Amino acid sequence: MNLKQILSKKLNVKKEKLPKSFDQIGSISIIDIPDELKKYERIIGQELIRLHKNIKTVYKKGSARSGIYRTRKLNYLAGERTEITEHKEFGCKLRMNIRRCYFSPREGTERSRLIKQIRKGETIMVFFAGIGPYPILISRRTKAKNIIGIELNPVAVKYFRENVKINKAKNVSVIEGDVRKKARKFYGLCDRVIMPLPETGYKYLEEAIKCLKKEGTINFYCFSPDDLSSIKEKIMRAGKRLTRKVKIIEQRKVLPYNARISKWRIDIRVY
Ligand SMILES: C[S@@+](CC[C@H](N)C(=O)[O-])C[C@H]1O[C@@H](n2cnc3c(N)ncnc32)[C@H](O)[C@@H]1O
Repeated sequence: MNLKQILSKKLNVKKEKLPKSFDQIGSISIIDIPDELKKYERIIGQELIRLHKNIKTVYKKGSARSGIYRTRKLNYLAGERTEITEHKEFGCKLRMNIRRCYFSPREGTERSRLIKQIRKGETIMVFFAGIGPYPILISRRTKAKNIIGIELNPVAVKYFRENVKINKAKNVSVIEGDVRKKARKFYGLCDRVIMPLPETGYKYLEEAIKCLKKEGTINFYCFSPDDLSSIKEKIMRAGKRLTRKVKIIEQRKVLPYNARISKWRIDIRVY
């Protein structure tokens, strides 16, 4: 039986109102519970632990992601009181504090899809690197030469460094700070720049272009409706300002965000 089936037996609530899915990061589960089920939230947490032997702690989403670090409020519901865990993704170990760092297990499939583009010997810059899922996966699963990750949140940087160590990702360099200040050291040196900051990443397109060698690639993430014309215009404008020719080589819907907006990846070739 799944969570929804068990809860519908235990609680006096219409089946459609019950949560059926949750995110699992290592041994911690994060679930979205509507306000009308507030009085049952602890029971829901306990049932989740009873049902899944590898879940030790349950939190409820307490807010949307916000702020520069893209974290959210989490309310403790059940199990061991910890906010630190180790998640496994395609053979990589990713340690983190789930309250103080951004991480989404839902993006694992996209990461594994993206790294298929990477060729032997590439120098890769990852802006907004968080606890390091892109750099670590690239280091472990491709023949890239060097990977540089820049991240602003000092707690995420601490885990990023730890993750580099535990995964023996020797070709990864961790840089703490703002992309706007730290990227300039790498101008003209990279084959590829990955930009996983979909809300405001477009503001850093010029930094990304400047990091690229003569013919390089940007993997740019953004939120957009199906009509991508507004975001494409921003990309073209960034190229024009720097007198570099830019060409969109692929666009792909990554995940739904809400009824109208999705997360997209746009691959850009810069000449
Ligand atoms: C959406 S998260 C992605 C994190 C990571 N790449 C992942 O996929 O799990 C964006 C990250 O960018 C960081 N960030 C935001 N603005 C930044 C900036 N100007 N320079 C460096 N990092 C920044 C945030 O702290 C956050 O960790």
